Amino acid sequence: MSFNSQLLSKLVEIYGPSSNEGRIRDFIREEIKDYVDEIRVDALGNLIARKKGEGKRVMISAHMDQIGMMVTDIDEKGFLRFTNIGGISPIYSYGQQVIFENGTVGAIFCEPVEDPSKIKLENMYIDIGAFSKEEAEKKVSIGDICVYKGHFSENENVVFTPYLDDRVGCFIAIEAIKEIREPKNDLYFVFSVQEEVGLRGARTAAFAIEPDIGISIDVTSHGDTPKAKRFAVGLNKGAAIKVKDRSIIVHPYIRETLVKLAKEKEIPYQMEILEFGGTDSGAIHLSKEGVPSGVISVPTRYVHSPVEMASKIDINNCTKLLVEFLNTEFDI
Ligand code: CO
Ligand code: ZN
Repeated sequence: MSFNSQLLSKLVEIYGPSSNEGRIRDFIREEIKDYVDEIRVDALGNLIARKKGEGKRVMISAHMDQIGMMVTDIDEKGFLRFTNIGGISPIYSYGQQVIFENGTVGAIFCEPVEDPSKIKLENMYIDIGAFSKEEAEKKVSIGDICVYKGHFSENENVVFTPYLDDRVGCFIAIEAIKEIREPKNDLYFVFSVQEEVGLRGARTAAFAIEPDIGISIDVTSHGDTPKAKRFAVGLNKGAAIKVKDRSIIVHPYIRETLVKLAKEKEIPYQMEILEFGGTDSGAIHLSKEGVPSGVISVPTRYVHSPVEMASKIDINNCTKLLVEFLNTEFDI
């Protein structure tokens, strides 16, 4: 299985912070429309694509939205103050370039502080190179959201880029849509909105779809860099099968099915117990009367930084495991 760098590099570079997912949604829609039986956009903006089949109704979720920074104030000299949309860290954002939907570029810096450990988002600002409030207001308005302006790089092992979270999940879902020709189950692929601000899109999509089974695809963290906190997940060690995070304890049937398939098909895998964070399955499994749900995670270093890193082999193994899972005859 070769690695489709071209598709992933496009996905990570399209603007789409939480609540402003229009551009990435249009791109994904074009990419998958010839491979699905039905496609629609719901009221919150989720893209929902169905591949019809006879078996269980399965909802597959990958979030389209990105973390970003929303402008809260523009001062007399044209500097922007901002609040976080999702998990923006002061350390990771300091010194980074950002870009707005209209192409306006800025740099994030900080007021002088005596103790650099005290840098907080409230002392930070975005400099868009405007020399007055009036000039800045021609380019940016209060409420606009910018995202990291990084770019995709790769070597033979890994990809380096902002926004693997969760465009790599979208990538895996797209690859699975293209690969599955005759679905054994009734598949609803959801490219969800607003995951980073509280799993909001997945909640409404699950309510509408009423799935029998839920599965989401997202990044997880790592424990394999110098002095990293102990965590038994690392790059190039296989697809991660989630056991728990802060949003869900995965249903044993789903977890065991994923492990069984990985063993049978010789797909390298590792078990993931993440002590923080959550993803769409956290919302899906609590929908209506409850939905047995699980997660396939891509082991990723430096999550929520402008240079997230993941292994190409792991990414392909996550796709393989998802395809096997969706082709399973479920007895639940
Ligand atoms: Co995230
Ligand atoms: Zn995510």
